[in-house]
Amino acid sequence: MNTEARPVLLFAYFRPDAQAWLDALAPAREFAEIRCWPEAGDPAEVDYVVAWQPPAGFLGGLPNLKAIFWIGAGVDRLLEDPALPDVPIARMKDDSLSLGMAEFVAERALHYHRLMPQYADQQRRREWRPLSPPLARERQVGVMGLGEIGQACARALAGLGFAVRGWSRTGREVPGVDVRTGDLGDFLAGCEIIACVLPLTPQTRGILNRDAFARLDGAWLINVGRGGHLVEADLIPALDAGRLAGATLDVFETEPLPPDHPFWTDPRIVVTPHASAVTHPASAAGHILANLRRAEAGEPLDGLVNRARGY
Ligand SMILES: NC(=O)c1ccc[n+]([C@@H]2O[C@H](COP(=O)([O-])OP(=O)(O)OC[C@H]3O[C@@H](n4cnc5c(N)ncnc54)[C@H](OP(=O)(O)O)[C@@H]3O)[C@@H](O)[C@H]2O)c1
Repeated sequence: MNTEARPVLLFAYFRPDAQAWLDALAPAREFAEIRCWPEAGDPAEVDYVVAWQPPAGFLGGLPNLKAIFWIGAGVDRLLEDPALPDVPIARMKDDSLSLGMAEFVAERALHYHRLMPQYADQQRRREWRPLSPPLARERQVGVMGLGEIGQACARALAGLGFAVRGWSRTGREVPGVDVRTGDLGDFLAGCEIIACVLPLTPQTRGILNRDAFARLDGAWLINVGRGGHLVEADLIPALDAGRLAGATLDVFETEPLPPDHPFWTDPRIVVTPHASAVTHPASAAGHILANLRRAEAGEPLDGLVNRARGY
């Protein structure tokens, strides 16, 4: 147990590029001692941890932890750790993440809406043929998941003039968005572009599957949630059957995507390396610092994860 007045914050970032985070977290030194793994000192002295991709069991080795500040938005991997301590977890909430994702989804939606894949095909054939896309307001776009990041995507798409329909568990309102709950098939029917921005939970694993695709007719899919949302074996058959016209996949069941995976070479599929939204330390550290102050003041954390819900 840390009995000093200053709490100990352990920065446990299991990636190579830690320095930008340490610089951004430096203001916390005013009221906390910052340690950087692997120089953690006595694990029993650690009060808080800022963590990213720790090995399973690592957090369970910090016996007096008071809270976990998670650098990402999705906590699926974290919650799978059987040794996860029973302390509050705050997921990352930051504009650099949500606006970055909104840019990515908006770019993909415009790309499909303005028929860029068709023009790429025509160019390969040296074919000069103007196409006539509908107006954005005539294009039904569906956003699965209306959380911090999903809402930012839905707002950006609505701002571009698309007809936006959003799907969430409880139906929280989003201005300019036709919010639906309940049957996924009913939600998908009529959507021409689908963006999946769901968290990965037991309820959402495998949600992008043959049955869901059967409700679509030549739609474009953008999956930026998690690889586990997509039943990968169902994607190419749905493209072959014309249920889907194309897909942009940023996340995969196995990452990095194995070199022999058929998604790499299918011209209807765009692969990006889990890069649709990147957390920028200089921007995102503010959320961690504010939560550290909240925790020390005994206030509830912002972005508190509900473990039973899984997000
Ligand atoms: N590719 C990347 O680089 C990247 C980066 C960041 C995040 N992500 C992914 O994006 C996900 C979403 O982030 P976020 O901040 O928007 O999440 P969030 O704030 O936790 O919101 C999750 C949303 O999903 C809805 N939802 C959850 N379970 C559902 C279900 N069974 N049926 C229908 N709706 C359901 C929730 O409904 P309610 O509103 O009713 O609770 C909520 O609207 C993350 O969990 C992560 O997996 C990916």
